[in-house]
Amino acid sequence: ILDTLPPLVSDSLLAIIALVNADPNPDKIDVGVGVYRDGQGRTPIPASLKKAEKRLWEEQQTKAYLGGYGDVRFTAAIRPVALGRHADDARIGGVQTPGGCGALALAFKLIAAARPEARVLIGTPTWPNHQPIVAGSGLRIVEYPFYDRDGTRIRFEEMVAALKSGERGDVALLHGCCHNPTGADLDDEQWSEVAQIVAERGLLPVVDLAYQGLGRGFEEDAAGLHKVLDSSEEAIVAYSCDKNFGVYRDRVGALFVKTGVEAATKHAMTHVLQIAREQWSMPPDHGAAAARIVLEDPLLKAEWLEEVAAMRDRINSIRARIAAADPRLAFVAEQYGMFSMLPLSKDQVVRLRDKSIYMADSGRFNVVGMSNGQVDRFIAAVIEAMDG
Ligand code: LMR
Repeated sequence: ILDTLPPLVSDSLLAIIALVNADPNPDKIDVGVGVYRDGQGRTPIPASLKKAEKRLWEEQQTKAYLGGYGDVRFTAAIRPVALGRHADDARIGGVQTPGGCGALALAFKLIAAARPEARVLIGTPTWPNHQPIVAGSGLRIVEYPFYDRDGTRIRFEEMVAALKSGERGDVALLHGCCHNPTGADLDDEQWSEVAQIVAERGLLPVVDLAYQGLGRGFEEDAAGLHKVLDSSEEAIVAYSCDKNFGVYRDRVGALFVKTGVEAATKHAMTHVLQIAREQWSMPPDHGAAAARIVLEDPLLKAEWLEEVAAMRDRINSIRARIAAADPRLAFVAEQYGMFSMLPLSKDQVVRLRDKSIYMADSGRFNVVGMSNGQVDRFIAAVIEAMDG
């Protein structure tokens, strides 16, 4: 049976990890997958998290099952960080998930259970795993152009038109901050307009918040989400801690589901738990337990916030350095988070691999994928590629 399966082209980002691993050059530049690196090119475990892990190792007495909700104290602790003024809203239910991917998968399967005919409006380009996750739920995808790569601007009029064309019960997938892959975030006014249209049209917003703290700041990066929660009776938030806690391989995330009434949220959460049970039964504990220890301890939390601020500062200083190098790259300083998209063709991107520089075929690069010592070489190679 299994030998009838045709080969699949691997996910573009996972393919880049493999290419980078296969390159023996010690000075290769990996600006592919979204992993934070410091000035020395390392991806350190934040000191606050390391301390929490030590405490966890010393104090944890059992690894017996916690149940489908995972670590409920983790979900309670990340809730005010993500939801801000909405954290006490009893109409919002939460569950721990294996990373943001797990949260997105739950979200779309939940929607498919409630409304299989719903269409999901997705601005392109988007994170290459969004469409497969939505498709896996069986829901129909409607794409609209979100970003003009060559003009380096959001195609906001087209986004508005697409959202206005949505029918009641359709879904709007929105990037909370640090848009992946473009770094082009909506401004406050645009968020207000989007939140209003989504509410007026009766669309269900699903906000993917995977980089909180790495753009402008914790509150600022969730400001759009909070506007959406202000105006929409129903909303879903897929949250990832993988980046802001540096727990990538531990897979730490949460799903928050808001409905118009508390009883309906309780019912929806029974479906969420059943879907989770079918997928992974219970989420992995370690990373979430360590993040919970950080969030519950004021000193560790303050240390963590400073560590995230340092990551953000590095992102923004590399952005400034790239932008200053050439007027064609000036847009990089106006974008947020780990990614921006270079105006390079796929051929140009592939040719850069001969110089051991690896980025996504789309021209998306991880601003902090390179060490401080690699920045000049990266900039020179990009400018040469743009000229060529
Ligand atoms: C990325 O976009 O590089 C990250 O979100 C990692 C991933 O899983 O794709």
